[in-house]
Parts: sequence; structure tokens; C-alpha cells
Amino acid sequence: NPKLQQAIDEIRELKRQKGAVVLSHYYMPAELQVTDADGGIADFVGDSLGLSVAASQTRARAIVFCGVKFMAETAKVLSPAATVLLPSMKAGCSLAVSISGEDVRFLKKKYPGVPVVAYVNTYAETKAEADICCTSRNALAIAKAMPGDQLIFLPDLYMGRNLQTRIKAETGKDLILWQGSCEVHEQFTPNQIMGLQMMYPEAELLVHWEVPDEVIMRTLSRSGGILGSTTDIIKYVGESQAQQFILASECDLGATLRGLYPQKEFVVPCIRCPHMKQIDVYRTLAAMRALDTPAETDFRIELDEEICRKAYLPIRRMLDFA
Ligand code: 13P
Repeated sequence: NPKLQQAIDEIRELKRQKGAVVLSHYYMPAELQVTDADGGIADFVGDSLGLSVAASQTRARAIVFCGVKFMAETAKVLSPAATVLLPSMKAGCSLAVSISGEDVRFLKKKYPGVPVVAYVNTYAETKAEADICCTSRNALAIAKAMPGDQLIFLPDLYMGRNLQTRIKAETGKDLILWQGSCEVHEQFTPNQIMGLQMMYPEAELLVHWEVPDEVIMRTLSRSGGILGSTTDIIKYVGESQAQQFILASECDLGATLRGLYPQKEFVVPCIRCPHMKQIDVYRTLAAMRALDTPAETDFRIELDEEICRKAYLPIRRMLDFA
């Protein structure tokens, strides 16, 4: 596609001229997951934790974020001096909008002294009220390490229940949960996955933490596989002897897996995140062109300084958590 290639070439040129980097999530369309070294535009491709680390380490003066708004906000909190642009302000998240800073203040009043773990899929004003953040990659370890026998985990109810199942047995800890859910992962059902397990009896199951607990309880024990984060899933496939996998996560993670492991087969009931899919090469080019011009305001992440300062602490604690 010559038009697409032209847009990619222009982004690569503008990145160098303007001193910008592109950070891209694994849920992006395949063409946004190609790294700069391989002729694409991404300086870093990763999961939400990897992208936070990359944002905290970059020296670039500008970041164009191919992901959703809460991720771009996290990048801004970690790199406040950088200009952070999001190619579409419509790239939201059903989890992030499910809870506000006000809601967390209410929870803290209701359960005084109980530590608050906020999933990174929250806006900065929500993070600002938390003790520590987590992503799906470190949630289990962080939840286990928190002091006390109670923990507020927000906002993903299903992920919270999945964590609760694992933690209760080991630590006896009780999780106080919120009612949020991921509009992609909540769509997986036990019948759908069990149907695929019957059609592909040799396949192992790859399932994200945000998938409803009922699905996991009824399906994971029927075949090998893993309940984990995006990166856990990628690593698991690399280490597994199995040749065939059923993916219960965002559709384009299937593209990532096929790219990394072309000799293995992936059965993907394709559910796409409508927010992530707001971002494409052409919108990324528009953001890159707007950088350092008045049009930049259409794409720029702006955060209140006080919120930024308060949200930094729980994110920093997460990154420092070994
Ligand atoms: P991870 O990148 O941490 O796996 O999570 C992605 C995500 O946003 C799921 O909703």
C-alpha cells in the first residue's frame, strides 16, 4: 500500500526532525507495532508496564503515544517536561471512565487505613488518590506484598476476583472491589471458549486477567495455558511446547503473536478494542505534523500540575517495586 508507506516514511522523517519518539502498545494494528529499526515508526512496543518504563526513561522532548488516553497520561506524569501527544482524544477506556478521584476518596472514607491499589487503567486524577499502581503484569505480586488483611483494588471487578482467588489461599487477604470492567475482555464467555476447546483439543488457552472469573474457572483447567498479562502471554507461548493456542484477549495481540511465533497457530475469537482502534498511521501522522504548531492542542495531553505531582508517587512506587 503506497499511501500507507508514504505516511510511515513521513512519520519517520518528522520524528527525527522534531526529536520525538513513538511508543506503541501491543493492541495497536500490526503496522504500528513495527519498530523503527525494522523500518516502522515505533521506538518502543510493549505492554502497559513496559510503556510506562519507556516513558520514564526517554530523554526525548516529545512523545507520540500509540495507545489509549490513560497510557498517554501516565507517560506525561512520568515525563512532565515532554510534550505528549495522543493521535485521537477518543481513545478512551471503559475501565478508566468507571471511576473518579472522588470515588476513591469515598472508598478511603468508608474503609479507613485500607491500602488502595489502582490498576494503571485509570485516569491521573484517580491514580492521584491511590497508594500504589499496578499493571496486569505486576498486580498479583503487588497485591500480595501490600500490608494488612484487606486491600482496595480498583477498578476492574473481574480482574479483582481473579486476583482474589489466587491471593486468598496464599495470604488470606480480602479484596474490596469496584464495579469496572474492560469492554473487550468482559465479552468472552465460558460457552464460547469451551466450544473452541472442543474444536481444538490440543490447543492451550491464553487468557488475560481482565476476563470474567467464571470463564477462567470453567475453562482454564480443561486445557493447559495461562492466566496472565499481555507480556506473560507472549512469554508463555515462547516457552510452551504446544503448537496451537486459543487467545482470550484483544484481537491484535493475535497479530503480535503471529509475528513473533510464525510456526505456531493462534485461534483468535476477534474482539477489538474500539478505543485502541481510534489510533492508526494516518492519525499518528496528523499528530506528528501538528507537533510544535498551534494545531498541537488537538492532540496534547494536559494535566493539572497538582494532579500530576500526586499521581507520580503511586506510579513511581509501582516502578520501584522489584
Ligand atoms: P497490559 O498491557 O498490562 O497487559 O494491559 C493492557 C490493557 O490495557 C488491558 O486492558
